[in-house]
Amino acid sequence: MSYYIYGTELNDPVIKDLIKKSVELTLTTDSEDLKEQLARAKYPEYLSPTNPDEEGKYKAIKNPDAAKNDRGHLGDPSFSNLFPKDAKFKKFDLSPNFGTEIDGIQLSELDDAGKNDLALFLETRGLAIFRNQDLRDKGPKFSKEFGNYFGPLHVHPISLAAKDYPELFVTYRKAGDGTRHAKEYAQTNTQSAWHSDISFEEYPSSFSFFVALEAPESGGDTVFLDTREAYRRLSPTFQKFFEGLTLIHSNYYQNLGAKLRNSVAKVKADYFTEHPLVRTHPVTGEKGLFFSRGFVQRVKGVKPAESAAILNFLHEHVLNNPEIQVRAAHRGTDSGTVIAWDNRILLHTAATDFLQHETGPRHHYRITVVGEKPYYDENQEVKVEVGGKL
Ligand SMILES: [Fe+2]
Repeated sequence: MSYYIYGTELNDPVIKDLIKKSVELTLTTDSEDLKEQLARAKYPEYLSPTNPDEEGKYKAIKNPDAAKNDRGHLGDPSFSNLFPKDAKFKKFDLSPNFGTEIDGIQLSELDDAGKNDLALFLETRGLAIFRNQDLRDKGPKFSKEFGNYFGPLHVHPISLAAKDYPELFVTYRKAGDGTRHAKEYAQTNTQSAWHSDISFEEYPSSFSFFVALEAPESGGDTVFLDTREAYRRLSPTFQKFFEGLTLIHSNYYQNLGAKLRNSVAKVKADYFTEHPLVRTHPVTGEKGLFFSRGFVQRVKGVKPAESAAILNFLHEHVLNNPEIQVRAAHRGTDSGTVIAWDNRILLHTAATDFLQHETGPRHHYRITVVGEKPYYDENQEVKVEVGGKL
């Protein structure tokens, strides 16, 4: 029995070479390539060449008081500051259990009370899709300050970032046509990798705000699943067993892949971090399965075959159930979409389903708030009903 750790194929020099060729053909690779993209980008301020001087320049962030300081503690359970009585807006739930789409509320105009409600809303509904947002037009400084209200911001070890704002994580995929399909899938069946953002960190993310700058009209959705419901679906016997387990999360293979694009390790390179499999939410008290598939390498303290059996079960149980998933569509550049979520209770993956077609670029930035060190507390009171009612 074995468990497939994403990226381990990069240990094979032949396959690594083949992957490098496909990366060079289809993705942004070096500063020359980036210069070309910058010349045509709609939002060039959110795209910056890799700077070798930044090697090791930043420190991993610790946030020991995060659970206590979480803004959701201050939120109004009726969300009256996020959705004021006189506001004209539309909203609908993507599923009764989690995920809500909202049009008519401007994130950049929220006051502190509105932001507190937003934190609590994300902690209960998990995911919110906001349309027609102007966050991207206010410039990187505004986004940094907006994110900072919720906590310290993460600097990603190897990702692209906005110019002069390493806290704004950038994903960029060039425009292209249908020939991308054969090239990008030459060595893989899927590019999906379910994860909780930066779960390899000692203090992983609480909230992510994913801001679309340019997006295909259709496709490239972000898909989400609810780890609370994955936990609830287990028998009490399995719940108890999993509550005693610790998983090792690592970005080791993400870094190997990034080296193919001449990345610079802005913080330290490789993390191997222990987190409980079942974690308790600091505000709602709900429990979820913290199975960040893209970064989880093994179960601590058991034999390799036992670790593989547990992780393969989790792969099937957590990731392979449409009943606990919703899709968030970015709907093109003009929709001004911002997707926000709570990484402590959801996993997500990009769905790269547009490579057979001609599309413009897919360009986003992410504000990543650093949360608490994951913990399991069996005695913490649960303050929320399924679906988000407090
Ligand atoms: Fe992510």
